[in-house]
Amino acid sequence: MLNVIIFGPPGSGKGTQSELIIAKYGLYHISTGEILRQEIKKQTELGAVADEYIKTGQLIPDELIIKILADVLDANLGAKGFIFDGFPRTIAQGKALDQLLSEKNTSIIAVLNLAVDEEELLNRLIKRGEESGRTDDDPVVIQKRLEVYRNQTEPLKEFYKKKGKLFTIKGNNSIEDVFEKIAEVLDRLSFQAK
Ligand code: AP5
Ligand code: MG
Repeated sequence: MLNVIIFGPPGSGKGTQSELIIAKYGLYHISTGEILRQEIKKQTELGAVADEYIKTGQLIPDELIIKILADVLDANLGAKGFIFDGFPRTIAQGKALDQLLSEKNTSIIAVLNLAVDEEELLNRLIKRGEESGRTDDDPVVIQKRLEVYRNQTEPLKEFYKKKGKLFTIKGNNSIEDVFEKIAEVLDRLSFQAK
């Protein structure tokens, strides 16, 4: 399996690049943010819980999100590979993902870290907020999301660097240029996938 994590702060282009990766490599997309937004839309119990965290820019508790992820993995075991978008977001989630994949005799092949400066992130998200309808694309909540990223999610870079799996890609360039760099990494590594 070709299992890839697309990593980076809010607005760095994880969703945008995931679509291009799926089109080229046929991977199954798991965006935990999308899953939660669907639950909110369907007005489920989980959606009601998620809404409270999302609209204030906080992370959903690890236990809850790990369970959701485990269920999605189990339901899609026939996939050629997965692209994890927005997961893991804490060290605990990273460890859980390693465990879940090793139980299936597979592992993460690369963590694609999209590096974008904060000013550009803010511009992108404020612009998107004008029409996205996302409750968290609000200037105050965006600041909170960036803070949560720095405190809780960024330490994962070191976690994956130590494993030799971190590939940093400059995310400020055009969507096409960023994807070209991603494809270079994936083409180089895909033969190692198991
Ligand atoms: P999630 O949905 O994962 O959001 P996020 O990480 O904050 O990131 P975004 O989706 O806003 O940005 P993105 O990196 O996908 O960028 P995009 O491609 O859209 O999470 C939302 C919330 O759900 C969390 O805050 C949390 O509450 C909860 N949650 C989710 N997962 C969780 C987990 N694992 N644990 C706990 N809680 C969890 O691009 C952004 C904009 O920029 C777009 O308008 C796009 O068109 C534009 N753009 C993209 N690339 C470029 C480029 N190269 N040049 C110019 N513009 C670009
Ligand atoms: Mg996204």
